[in-house]
Amino acid sequence: MAVSAKPTPVAPATTEVQTYDMKQALAENRLLGLIRMAAGFRRLYVGAIASLAVSSIARTLTLLLLAYFVDEVLFRDDVRQVVPLVALGFLGLALVEGSASYLSGRWAARTAEQVAWRLRNYLYDHLQRLTFSYHDRMQTGELLQRATSDVEAIRRFFVEQGVGIGRILILFVVNFIAIMTIRVDLALLSIVVIPVLVLVSLYFFKKISASYEAMQDQEAKLSTTLQENLSGVRVVKAFARQEYEREKFEADNWEKFLRGRHLLVLNAVYWPLTDILVGAQQVGAYLLGAIMAINGTITVGQYMAFVGMLNMIVNPMRQLGRLIVHTSTGMVSYDRVSEIIRQTREPLHEDSTPPVERVRGEIVFDRVDFHYDNETPVLHEISFRCEPGQTIALLGSTGSGKTSLVNLLPRFYDYTGGSITLDGVELRDYPRSFLRANIGVVEQEPFLFSRTIRENITYGVGREVSDEEVFAAARAAAVHDVIEEFPDGYRTLVGERGVTLSGGQKQRIALARTLLKNPRILILDDATSSVDTETEAAIRHALRQMMQDRTSLVIAHRVQTLMHADLVLVLDEGRIVQQGTHSQLIAQEGIYRETFDMQSRIEEALEKEIASA
Ligand SMILES: Nc1ncnc2c1ncn2[C@@H]1O[C@H](COP(=O)(O)OP(=O)(O)OP(=O)(O)O)[C@@H](O)[C@H]1O
Ligand SMILES: [Mg+2]
Repeated sequence: MAVSAKPTPVAPATTEVQTYDMKQALAENRLLGLIRMAAGFRRLYVGAIASLAVSSIARTLTLLLLAYFVDEVLFRDDVRQVVPLVALGFLGLALVEGSASYLSGRWAARTAEQVAWRLRNYLYDHLQRLTFSYHDRMQTGELLQRATSDVEAIRRFFVEQGVGIGRILILFVVNFIAIMTIRVDLALLSIVVIPVLVLVSLYFFKKISASYEAMQDQEAKLSTTLQENLSGVRVVKAFARQEYEREKFEADNWEKFLRGRHLLVLNAVYWPLTDILVGAQQVGAYLLGAIMAINGTITVGQYMAFVGMLNMIVNPMRQLGRLIVHTSTGMVSYDRVSEIIRQTREPLHEDSTPPVERVRGEIVFDRVDFHYDNETPVLHEISFRCEPGQTIALLGSTGSGKTSLVNLLPRFYDYTGGSITLDGVELRDYPRSFLRANIGVVEQEPFLFSRTIRENITYGVGREVSDEEVFAAARAAAVHDVIEEFPDGYRTLVGERGVTLSGGQKQRIALARTLLKNPRILILDDATSSVDTETEAAIRHALRQMMQDRTSLVIAHRVQTLMHADLVLVLDEGRIVQQGTHSQLIAQEGIYRETFDMQSRIEEALEKEIASA
């Protein structure tokens, strides 16, 4: 197997670990699911628990050695000769205990880090492959919360709770057996309270679990509010709604406080309750042991060892409460993360062979219906035909379904009725990856990354491109000169650490990004809405040359753009109400002529004003 030359900061243990499909970790039983999440790292984890066992055994042996020392050595005549040996024994046991404990902590932490690391990687990748509808439905703050805070809770589960529970069990078994070797009845009497303790803990486990889930949900709500306020800070300021937003946040924050307090109250009741139980157990057992020692049933050395062992059983039991509480938080987080993992990805079928080799660009819509997940019909019986290389323009009032219509072509969403064919093949039979490679979309509200302008423009091509190609695309989008004027030209950073772009500049860079991809089918969703008329004319001119042999769908409101289209579709409330060329439509009554007349009137008025000035 070839070893990749790329250095990985945290080297995965095996390739099997890298390719682990998190879906295998989905389980009804959350504990089982968590264990499956650690697949591939489990050997290390078992090592951590085994070291823990070694360390516990060494500790208990120390106590037994102490008993031996008090009972057998202390009063012997040759005590001076034996003491060094016993001391050596103590030292050796301490060494074993210490190093085993160190290894256990180290390995557990490493397992936990690796589980979290892989889970984060998986979630990041997975989130980018889910459907558009899932992202419509889920709030960003909620997803952020799950990908960070919940992954962290799972990490803590492995480093703290998993090992902690293992520790309690091991200490219990080892010391219980050790006390049994001293006296069986004493051993049994030392643990009478434990079943009660476990029952009480389980009861609180359920309560605290529910309470924690409620708090985590509220926290997600809070991060959504915060995230939206930060993204929309301009709107908040522009409408002077700071006060309203502050109150809203405070209300949410108060709710979180209340839920957090509920959690604290539960803890506050639980702790003293278990303390009383554990204390009663200790006192009872000490007394009983003391009586036995006085009666001579056990020796003084045995009594001393017993006290130490009992503490090792009972004291960790007090931790059981906290562990159980935290385990419940790990489990809730497991649920919240699994909800994402459970979502099916949008199948891209990157490897399958597409039904056509090369897209010509003939598009036929035949009585296409469409609705989003909420079932409200958005498009009704859309039918039209577009020959390869033609330009189709869409006109319609806001909310009439133009964006929804063009989004069907790259299969961002699937149509719910009728048929769409591309070059004679049903759209559903194309792999999504193929469609997206051949269809370029300039979105209505383009998004640019906080990277350099060049990186943004070359984002979609996935290969090395020359400066000339980048410049050509930027020129066609009428943005080359603007970019050249920036301090670092094409290397200027976009966003907070670089330049702040205007709406029109953003649109044009997004246009250059799509043009560089050189798609067979071009979709421009209001791509020049934020651009002045003159610049738009320049873009239109450049585009007309680029569009010559490619099919394009253009959503536009300006008649100048619509005039040159081979076919204009006029949409109203999800239906095509008019279709034809500019000259056909201008001859009819309807939305198209109204729009045209209105725009002409405005222009005439403007021209008159300019002439008279
Ligand atoms: N992701 C979505 N989920 C559910 N409904 C949606 C979604 N996107 C749009 N809609 C609804 O579909 C209808 C058509 O919206 P669409 O965005 O297609 O209109 P449009 O013609 O592009 O409008 P505009 O000119 O304002 O961009 C609207 O009623 C809108 O509320
Ligand atoms: Mg739109």
